[in-house]
Amino acid sequence: MEKIVVNGGNKLKGNVTISGAKNAAVAILPGVILSDGICRIENIPNIMDVNLMATILHRMGAKVNRINKSTLEIDPTYIRAPKATYDLVRHMRASSYLMGALLGKFSEAEVALPGGCDFGVRPLDQHLKGFAILGAEHSVSGGMINVKAVNLTGGHIYLDVVSVGATVNIMLAAVKANGRTIIENAAKEPHIVDLANFLNSMGADVRGAGTDVIKINGVKHLNGTVYSIIPDQIEAGTYMVAAAATGGDVLVQNVITKHLESITAKLREMGVEVEEYEDSVRVRRSGELKRCNVKTMPHPGFPTDMQPQIAALLTMANGTSIVNEAVWDNRFRYVEELKRMGAVISVDGKIAVIEGVKNLMGAPVKATDLRAGAAMIIAALAANGTTYIEDIQHIERGYEEVVEKFASLGADIRRVYTDNAVIHTA
Ligand code: EPZ
Repeated sequence: MEKIVVNGGNKLKGNVTISGAKNAAVAILPGVILSDGICRIENIPNIMDVNLMATILHRMGAKVNRINKSTLEIDPTYIRAPKATYDLVRHMRASSYLMGALLGKFSEAEVALPGGCDFGVRPLDQHLKGFAILGAEHSVSGGMINVKAVNLTGGHIYLDVVSVGATVNIMLAAVKANGRTIIENAAKEPHIVDLANFLNSMGADVRGAGTDVIKINGVKHLNGTVYSIIPDQIEAGTYMVAAAATGGDVLVQNVITKHLESITAKLREMGVEVEEYEDSVRVRRSGELKRCNVKTMPHPGFPTDMQPQIAALLTMANGTSIVNEAVWDNRFRYVEELKRMGAVISVDGKIAVIEGVKNLMGAPVKATDLRAGAAMIIAALAANGTTYIEDIQHIERGYEEVVEKFASLGADIRRVYTDNAVIHTA
């Protein structure tokens, strides 16, 4: 079994370069299916979720050519069947985007029901509501979801919940539908805007992305394109919080500072110095960390994908903090792991009350999901002693070269392979 081992206590110093945004990449790659030509996608993160999506496209018949570590060239014109029924699909929530892309291209899709991080129910009702308004009926059987439209036609969709996935999926289905689609109460995340810009670079007509009303006029053809993915807001935020947790001084490069505003504001509230430059931010912390309250919200609020990381930081703050996870039902599974390191946290439903302690202590812990794993690394970097983090496959899904990047900042961190055998003595 592979683990990450961290000897805590080193202050992070130096520069780290942020990779392309995972949640933009896993929406744009299915979007390539809609193209009638070759698409070259640049600044794509070399992470498991992206490579899994590329493998699925290849299995569907697309020609996928890796130009270099961060560039893929994909020819989707060989995809003939509107199906993505592989076991692979079940391993990633973003596979649901294949429904919208195949529906948009073929007016039909058959996709294995997706999996993904386990923090509460991850429904698809808003996705299916949008498809129905575009004229697509759906059925579920044998673990497959089938959506089909005789004539995919634009419509007026009002999302009951601000949903990133539903917004992405409806955009993918609507760009080639007949007529105009309006998505009300749309998600406004940076990766929604990036997807819209990618689709428009192929010749789509998507307006209003980044606001809560997105208007799409369907077009007949989408051409091949060359597109570079935005930097990852959550990866950047993770390194910002890690710099603060270790009392370090880190320049986080290749960022869009506007995407980091809510994270920057929260860190400043905690007494962390954040200086914004053209495409980087410098994060320093020398004094004590102040307690604060956090409520996760859809963009531009504080991102739920930064909730475990900021909670890890708050375990070392001076005073008692409240974290309100207002997006997901059960995104505190990592708390039990932090408590093994000496954190003092009590969880009641969507609220976590965190009493700051002077020091965390290294311990054997697990990564319960992607961002929880990042939180464990942050806690381990600041803790006294050694921390062993298991189930690191979750972390590798969304963070490119995470051990190498932290090591380059002076962290005492490494991957180790341990024999899983446990000798039971009588
Ligand atoms: C995306 O998940 C992200 N994943 C998640 O990031 C992120 O936490 C989430 O958006 C919120 O920002 C990707 O982009 C691949 P939602 P998604 O639909 O689309 C409810 C990470 O760490 N809902 O915005 O699945 C849902 O239960 C991952 O990178 C419905 O009720 O999230 C939740 O409470 C983890 N019905 C809320 O909406 C639906 O049909 C937000 O979910 C869809 C969602």
